[in-house]
Amino acid sequence: MSTKRFYSSRFYLVRVFVLAVFVSHFFACSKSYEEGKTVIGNKAMVVTAHPEASRVGIEVLENGGNAIDAMVAVHFALAVVYPAAGNIGGGGFMIYRPVDGEVSSLDFREKAPLAAFEEMYQDENGEIIDGLSLAGPMASGVPGSVDGMIQAHKKYGSVPLKELIAPAYKLAKKGFYITEKQAKNYNRYKSVFIEQNQDSTNIPLVRFDRKWQEGDLLVQQDLASTLKRIQDNGRDGFYKGETAQLLVAEMKAGNGIIELEDMAKYEAKWRTPITGEYRGLKVYSMGPPSSGGIALMQLLKMSAHFPLGDLGFHQAKTIHLMTEMERRVYADRAKHLGDSDFWDVPKDDLLDDGYLKSRVDEIHLTNATDSEQVLAMNFDHQESEETTHYSIVDANGNAVSVTTTINSGYGSKVFVTGAGFLMNNEMDDFSSKPGVPNVYGLLGGKANAIQPEKRMLSAMTPTILEKDGELFMVVGTPGGSTIITSVYQTILNVVDHGMDMREAVSSARVHHQWKPNFIFPEKGGLEETTKSALEEMGHTIKERGSIGRVDAILVNEKGLLEGAGDPRGDDWAAGF
Ligand code: GLY
Repeated sequence: MSTKRFYSSRFYLVRVFVLAVFVSHFFACSKSYEEGKTVIGNKAMVVTAHPEASRVGIEVLENGGNAIDAMVAVHFALAVVYPAAGNIGGGGFMIYRPVDGEVSSLDFREKAPLAAFEEMYQDENGEIIDGLSLAGPMASGVPGSVDGMIQAHKKYGSVPLKELIAPAYKLAKKGFYITEKQAKNYNRYKSVFIEQNQDSTNIPLVRFDRKWQEGDLLVQQDLASTLKRIQDNGRDGFYKGETAQLLVAEMKAGNGIIELEDMAKYEAKWRTPITGEYRGLKVYSMGPPSSGGIALMQLLKMSAHFPLGDLGFHQAKTIHLMTEMERRVYADRAKHLGDSDFWDVPKDDLLDDGYLKSRVDEIHLTNATDSEQVLAMNFDHQESEETTHYSIVDANGNAVSVTTTINSGYGSKVFVTGAGFLMNNEMDDFSSKPGVPNVYGLLGGKANAIQPEKRMLSAMTPTILEKDGELFMVVGTPGGSTIITSVYQTILNVVDHGMDMREAVSSARVHHQWKPNFIFPEKGGLEETTKSALEEMGHTIKERGSIGRVDAILVNEKGLLEGAGDPRGDDWAAGF
């Protein structure tokens, strides 16, 4: 099987058939939903991790809503239909490109609670307490998604908030039919949910009578009530009153430290996007507290020094060069990146052309570097794998790229009793102790140490590209540490390897992150000869499961929108 067609095989057609049955069975309308090929839209496109959320978004656009309206509706819908990562108990980042204005970026990342402190996950001997930053109430940061959606809506929305939350409310109240993957997942997590929740009798994703099956109806009454409070009271329906009280009660019933004051104080922040050029395209991505934008731009700027297209897709030389660039970028990330409200991130140095050229010059064309020898640069004046992504373009050409997360799958695994939503375990994205890797194997130091009200460093990389001043691509993915390299590869697939959106999203991915010093290809994703050639250069290959779930939109040469939901998940493109 050609690696280019990695996910375009018979497996993919079977999956599309099952999803097509699912969709035609449960959807009232039948627009140009995905039918096993790139979805083409003349005007508008929504690509999300779940068919129901894509349906909600495209209906908002069909009814005249704009991209931000669709974003709000999709975000709340994902909190209901994709509880593994869709959320109101987490946070995320948005890049917005209005058709006639400045590109903006919104940071609605979670924050450390006021009572947080640097050694909070260490025991009296300074050793990390296993799992404390990952599961249970103490793993949670103060959620930002609701304030993020409301702030973006206030600035750019055109449909009343209440109407935009209504589809999510209905999906929670009346239920929706779960997919096969979801059924498997909920069964797999049953014992973890029971272990982590105070009241094991009332966990929305746990059933005791039998196992979950594809097509089961999932009703979430408590979540519906929470959504209703947000519909009625806006921000205060979440950050104050009953919802906030339920959340704080859940914290106090365990070892959580989020207080009502933390909730009341939370505010999403408008940030300056990271911008740069790659082979004549303009790139907009997310700046700190995400590492995504800076790391992606470093990779792209270094890549411009190599003829990657001529070297060929998934050829050993290409993978070697990408690996060497990634090794250096992730070393810089570990040392220099953190929340810029608390840490002086040397953004200009990291993106300086001269500096990046010096890093390129270190790369040997056929020999792997030892990661131990690659240190982050010292600048003199220095100071998920869950998560989900959605891409939207509206009928006027406004585009929005959002990546949102509760960190690992189902976050802290703690449902807020009576409010029906899952809390994040985002505190694990801080560096709990210098030199100790987080759940994604990522290292960090002072730049990303825990401080009250600080935002933990992220890899989320929602990105928008322009060509000749016009919209070109909307792209992003979940995947923890692999997010940056998945977005990078999707861009290279289109720009350097000439793929369409579907191929670019489906193709096998390969990841490297400096430490641990492995090239991680998706299982079966690289030819044996390529792997041998890389090993001869000194690389160590370690195959792994699927990487990322890229949901992306491309404006093709005819000016049509190509939407591609990643076939690795239930992801779904809908357009008109
Ligand atoms: N929680 C994954 C990330 O923010 O990168």
